[in-house]
Amino acid sequence: MTAGSVRDLLTRWTLEWIQSVIALDGRRVVDVGCGEGHLAVALSQAGAEVVGVEPSQEAASMARDQGVDVRPVDFLEFDEGPFDVVLFTRSLHHIPEVEKAVQRSADLLAPGGLLLLEEFDVEAVDEATLRWFYDTMYLLRRAGLADEGPEQRIEDLPAAWQEEHHHHHPLHPAKVYLDALSGAYSQVEVSRGPYFFWKYCRHLRPDAEAIGRALFEVEQGLLREKRIVANGVRVIARP
Ligand SMILES: C[S@@+](CC[C@H](N)C(=O)[O-])C[C@H]1O[C@@H](n2cnc3c(N)ncnc32)[C@H](O)[C@@H]1O
Repeated sequence: MTAGSVRDLLTRWTLEWIQSVIALDGRRVVDVGCGEGHLAVALSQAGAEVVGVEPSQEAASMARDQGVDVRPVDFLEFDEGPFDVVLFTRSLHHIPEVEKAVQRSADLLAPGGLLLLEEFDVEAVDEATLRWFYDTMYLLRRAGLADEGPEQRIEDLPAAWQEEHHHHHPLHPAKVYLDALSGAYSQVEVSRGPYFFWKYCRHLRPDAEAIGRALFEVEQGLLREKRIVANGVRVIARP
């Protein structure tokens, strides 16, 4: 990890949450949909034994190049185990057969193990939240700080949001994956919080970490003041 980069900020944000839930040293962790492997590397550096699962061959090979022990398969075909932690960061909402994936996660857990999920809720937006999100994205782009974002101020906010989340298959909103989790786990602890800063950071210039931090502070403030809707979802689930 490059110290001080925007990517580092995002990796630390997730890693610190995981470490606040469980001490990682010596734990077996499966990182489902590990992508290019940045978090998996950080988890290993924190002492965990990590296996990454990543069906995109390109991303899997980038993860492997970073030293991640990666299986280039769909999670539904993965049957190693047991693990102390099954981790999904922004991957469960992509898996069409969400109930099967959730049941598979529970089957892979060692006694005392837990599922950790970090996601966003595509349905958790309102007009004020989208106005703030897209106006900020527009400003970041115009300032040359982000490589993506609207070229003009967006008028039809719901249409822009829908367009942005239009994939080959619909993304599961939180109620779908939370229902699936409640069906397979006896304890499901859900918290909602910031997430838009994460979306901004994905497009920020790599050296703009200070801006990433400021965006996080602003989002937290707006959430405290109840001016925007919390889009982030974190779950700790126990069988
Ligand atoms: C938005 S990326 C998130 C990557 C990384 N976990 C992160 O938080 O930055 C979603 C990842 O889930 C992976 N994915 C999609 N379907 C999957 C499946 N059926 N099994 C495992 N991973 C899957 C994708 O290939 C992609 O790498």
